[in-house]
Amino acid sequence: MGQDAFMELHSSTAGIFQCKIYLLLLAGSCSGLKVTVPSHTVHGIRGQALYLPVHYGFHTLASDIQIIWLFERPHTMPKYLLGSVNKSVVPDLEYQHKFTMRPPNASLLINPLQFDDEGNYIVKVNIQGNGTLSSSQKIQVTVDDPVTKPVVQHHPSSGAVEYVGNMTLTCRVEGGTRLVYQWLKNGKPVRTSSTYSFSPQNNTLRIAPVTKEDIGNYSCLVKNPVSEMESGIITPTIYYGPYGLRVNSDKGLKVGEVFTVDLGEAILFDCSADSYPPNTYSWIQNTENATYVIKYGPVLEVASDKVAQKTTDFVCCAYNNVTGKQDETHFTVIITSVGLEKFAQKAKSLSPLATITGISLFLIISMCLLFIWKKYQPYRVIKQKLEGRPDTEYRKAQTFSGHEDALDDFGIYEFVAFPDAPGVSRMPSRSAPTSDGVSGQDLHSTIYEVIQHIPAQEEDHPEPGNP
Ligand SMILES: *[C@@H]1O[C@H](CO)[C@@H](O)[C@H](O)[C@H]1NC(C)=O
Ligand SMILES: *[C@@H]1O[C@H](CO)[C@@H](O)[C@H](O)[C@H]1NC(C)=O
Ligand SMILES: *[C@@H]1O[C@H](CO)[C@@H](O)[C@H](O)[C@H]1NC(C)=O
Ligand SMILES: *[C@@H]1O[C@H](CO)[C@@H](O)[C@H](O)[C@H]1NC(C)=O
Ligand SMILES: *[C@@H]1O[C@H](CO)[C@@H](O)[C@H](O)[C@H]1NC(C)=O
Ligand SMILES: *[C@@H]1O[C@H](CO)[C@@H](O)[C@H](O)[C@H]1NC(C)=O
Ligand SMILES: *[C@@H]1O[C@H](CO)[C@@H](O)[C@H](O)[C@H]1NC(C)=O
Ligand SMILES: *[C@@H]1O[C@H](CO)[C@@H](O)[C@H](O)[C@H]1NC(C)=O
Repeated sequence: MGQDAFMELHSSTAGIFQCKIYLLLLAGSCSGLKVTVPSHTVHGIRGQALYLPVHYGFHTLASDIQIIWLFERPHTMPKYLLGSVNKSVVPDLEYQHKFTMRPPNASLLINPLQFDDEGNYIVKVNIQGNGTLSSSQKIQVTVDDPVTKPVVQHHPSSGAVEYVGNMTLTCRVEGGTRLVYQWLKNGKPVRTSSTYSFSPQNNTLRIAPVTKEDIGNYSCLVKNPVSEMESGIITPTIYYGPYGLRVNSDKGLKVGEVFTVDLGEAILFDCSADSYPPNTYSWIQNTENATYVIKYGPVLEVASDKVAQKTTDFVCCAYNNVTGKQDETHFTVIITSVGLEKFAQKAKSLSPLATITGISLFLIISMCLLFIWKKYQPYRVIKQKLEGRPDTEYRKAQTFSGHEDALDDFGIYEFVAFPDAPGVSRMPSRSAPTSDGVSGQDLHSTIYEVIQHIPAQEEDHPEPGNP
């Protein structure tokens, strides 16, 4: 806290105090004297002057104002420093050059401040008027040397391998008393964790074991009551990886681990993985039986016209020669024919009208083909039935509804009059014995038989069963 702050606090306290006195006067029950200090603890810097502000007020008529300063340290007798009555100061001759007071101002100036000036300072004010009023205050004074800039050293300085090595950061400070150490990583305080531990003083940070996540900017912040200083940043070397191995190409289509490339094109493959120090990359080609390294380095160029097979398997292998770890990724290159590719491109560029026309044509042709197929399909089935027509088969043919599919009914229909209105159920028993030969009697047996015979005769290859 600076002296300006002290003064502000001082004057505001004084204001309240005066107010209070005024109120007490009106009430007529005032003790009369109040001594106040802005702070009961004051931190001083060794070798500099320290000012201990004190304020007092009273309301009675005073003939004598007496101020006494005493000093006490734990386990020692209190010492008299100086005293005053009205404006005359009587110092202890032993300390007369060190302590200064200008009465009626009760504040004490200590100059220069030394380590043995640390302790409690007691101020006592006596007012002599109609009786004697007395009041005192105590101020604790600490004396420190300011902190000098800390320096962080790390061991091993050559770096540590992830999950194997440990790292110790030590914060060294040349000057300063009552030092409090704090470690910062990327500006934020480091807390104790499963891998972070501190020495009792906190001046040493140990990371065991180190991981990739421990990479960062470390600094040491050192504080004491009068100052604070932060070290420069150190970034420990941590060897890790390889992680996240990936293969990318400058052109071509990538689907999963498969790259599709046009025939005749040369493509560059780029293999990358996160690692420190940078990986050593090697490219391996897998043929039917043999596996051999084709190149070292992060980039591989494949001229597709030089690839013997249309489909080639490659492996990119990343090796970290410090961590001793390696990773590999397999990928396949498929060389596609330029012709197919161009055809696909042309198809894509066709106008919508042309596409519609094409689809329409296709549909029309399909319909025609279906029509023709359907036209000849039923005859073939019926022909088979007629050729080797056993009784059971015939029965089936007779009971067949014939209306399951309209196309099956396609053909030439002829009306035939029957002399003795025959029932369908009666027909099989009569026609079965003479199934192969079509006699005049048989002609009027069914409508179906008439229909079946006519197209058969029109066909190129006449059959003996169907004259
Ligand atoms: C202090 O001052 C008051 C009034 O100014 C006076 O009456 C008194 O005698 C003085 N005391 C001494 C010790 O000089
Ligand atoms: C006492 O003296 C100091 C300077 O020595 C001054 O800053 C302070 O305001 C004075 N206090 C009062 C109550 O007059
Ligand atoms: C002094 O104090 C007495 C009682 O304590 C009181 O009666 C008297 O009026 C006071 N005198 C002055 C001048 O305040
Ligand atoms: C790291 O510290 C652990 C225990 O904290 C110890 O077992 C291990 O040997 C240390 N490793 C190295 C490389 O010093
Ligand atoms: C560490 O410090 C360097 C420069 O000192 C800075 O470029 C880098 O961004 C810092 N890293 C982090 C994580 O803050
Ligand atoms: C050391 O640091 C830890 C975490 O920052 C803190 O909790 C602990 O109080 C510190 N100890 C000392 C002696 O400063
Ligand atoms: C692979 O091995 C077989 C026998 O194991 C051999 O006949 C064939 O020639 C080999 N192919 C190549 C490309 O080496
Ligand atoms: C490790 O690999 C790097 C290249 O990535 C190389 O410069 C270095 O010499 C290698 N170290 C060892 C010990 O092989």
